[in-house]
Amino acid sequence: MCGIVGFIEKEKKDINAQDVLINCLKKLEYRGYDSAGIAVVDCENKERKLEIRKAKGRLSNLEELIKTSPVEGTTGIGHTRWATHGEPSDINSHPHTDVSGYIAVVHNGIIENHNKLRKWLEEHGVVFKSETDTECIAHLIDFHYNGDLVTAVSEVMKRLEGSYALAVVCQQEPDLIVVAKKDCPLVIGLGEGFNLIASDVTPILEYSREVQYLDDNQVAKVTATDVTIFNKDGVIVEVPVSHVDWDMQSAQKNGYEHFMLKEICEQPFVLDQTYKARVYAGKIDLQEINSIVEKATHVVIVGCGTAYHAAFVAKYSIEHFARIPVDIDVASEFRYRDPIINENDLCIVISQSGETADTLQAMRILKQKGAKVIAITNVVGSTVAREADFVMYTQAGPEIAVASTKAFTTQLMCVYLLTCALTKDLEVREKLMSELEEMGAKAQLVVDRQAEIQKFASRQFNKTKVFYFGRLSDYAISLESALKLKEISYTHSEAFAAGELKHGPIALIDDKTLVVATCCQPFLYDKMDSNIKEVKARGAKTLAITFEGNHAFDDVSDEVFLIPKTDPYIAPILSVIVTQLYAYYCSVNRGNDPDHPRNLAKSVTVE
Ligand code: AGP
Repeated sequence: MCGIVGFIEKEKKDINAQDVLINCLKKLEYRGYDSAGIAVVDCENKERKLEIRKAKGRLSNLEELIKTSPVEGTTGIGHTRWATHGEPSDINSHPHTDVSGYIAVVHNGIIENHNKLRKWLEEHGVVFKSETDTECIAHLIDFHYNGDLVTAVSEVMKRLEGSYALAVVCQQEPDLIVVAKKDCPLVIGLGEGFNLIASDVTPILEYSREVQYLDDNQVAKVTATDVTIFNKDGVIVEVPVSHVDWDMQSAQKNGYEHFMLKEICEQPFVLDQTYKARVYAGKIDLQEINSIVEKATHVVIVGCGTAYHAAFVAKYSIEHFARIPVDIDVASEFRYRDPIINENDLCIVISQSGETADTLQAMRILKQKGAKVIAITNVVGSTVAREADFVMYTQAGPEIAVASTKAFTTQLMCVYLLTCALTKDLEVREKLMSELEEMGAKAQLVVDRQAEIQKFASRQFNKTKVFYFGRLSDYAISLESALKLKEISYTHSEAFAAGELKHGPIALIDDKTLVVATCCQPFLYDKMDSNIKEVKARGAKTLAITFEGNHAFDDVSDEVFLIPKTDPYIAPILSVIVTQLYAYYCSVNRGNDPDHPRNLAKSVTVE
């Protein structure tokens, strides 16, 4: 939620701050697109005033604005907003300044005590311009500023409650950017004669691959040539430099109309990569977690949204193959319900971004309770990755579209590999592993048939209600399918366990309803057959997703999509590709932008 960037160079050379900031913001637009803005100062011309440009709406509006009104300087910060406090408007857009306009701040996070701070500032004569919590920070910095921006920001941090990643520039000290963080991510990119800061590594990669990750309660003074990081007591700390080797190509659209379609189509490759990262010569390499896996008698998994659905699928597979009970929870519930955690529990958190506020808190609770936590995450160096005891990286590469696709199926690959590790019956384990090895190739067969799904979507995209149902892991994947459709097509879609239909949901079925029945549990085909007939009898159109070679639904369902045969418990990797594509084409047919769905941001760093 919200992306922040910063750039500083010694002297204006080929690249100028304004262009770098805009370029970096483009890479972070997935974090929010309610407004965008930049603030620039100039260390070559200290007489030059701090300049701000900001505009409501997509980043392109800001780009238009600076075409007619460019800003010049060596040092700048930028912001792309997902509104929390105050409606999306020019005035509520970041950067925010103090009364004099000398200090500018961009902020990702929420200041929870902003009402108290605002009142205090108003009592001290400050007149606020915006409704945001962030504006308090700019005024407070001014209040504590005595010629040293680092000290002022450090003092302000003591007064802030909530979460923040901040970048601050100041007209009196144009040769530095001060950044600080608590519970929101912040990365510093190290260049030659310049440095950058950003909410994640993707904007930095074009300029540098050497990065430093700031920890909570740290503040950093970033100049064009140096980075000095202080802890909360003002003591300088050494923060290691990490090298990021993500492939930049995967952060480009490469000819695809949207990132989402590209990411759906990348799944065969990244599934393969995720499998190969952990399997050598037919053996799973999870060495670092073997000791926990071996003694696990109970598994606990938490995540949010799509990551929670990966946990849902994991529950079915771990209980079925490994015969170990699994409890799953959405992180926002888990963190408040005083969960019971035992010493031998295998605790897993799943998060694409590794920055989701609720998931992070859930992980901290697990650790406070003495559990060792395995993180399944996509982002190297993310907070979840750094705080977990062990990490299984999904090898999905940067996922830019807000709606998660390749991160989800690679999360599934990771939980299936963990399932293998937990499965003591070697024959069962080997069979499962050989199925997983083929998953990339089978996913390709589904992706290759996207034109069929496109056609289906062009006939059905106007349905006002779409219900997904299935049994066992087909039910779990129905939840993800329904989420995907509602996220990007804004269609009312829900998922049901097929057996629950008659207990209420069937009342909603009429001739405006499309029902997608995932039918990949052979021993339950008869039950699904009845369920499909029941909804058809009430006017619904139906699509059945089932295995190649199964003709049981040919005469029952209006349409049937066949996926390659595999084990029913791992079929979700394949069946979800069909529903991802369906959601994508519905979104496009409805004239939406699937990469930037309304009201959503990719990384939910606030509660
Ligand atoms: C996925 O399409 C969603 N945008 C959302 O549900 C997401 O999965 C959720 O916010 C969790 O994010 P994370 O995996 O980065 O923690």
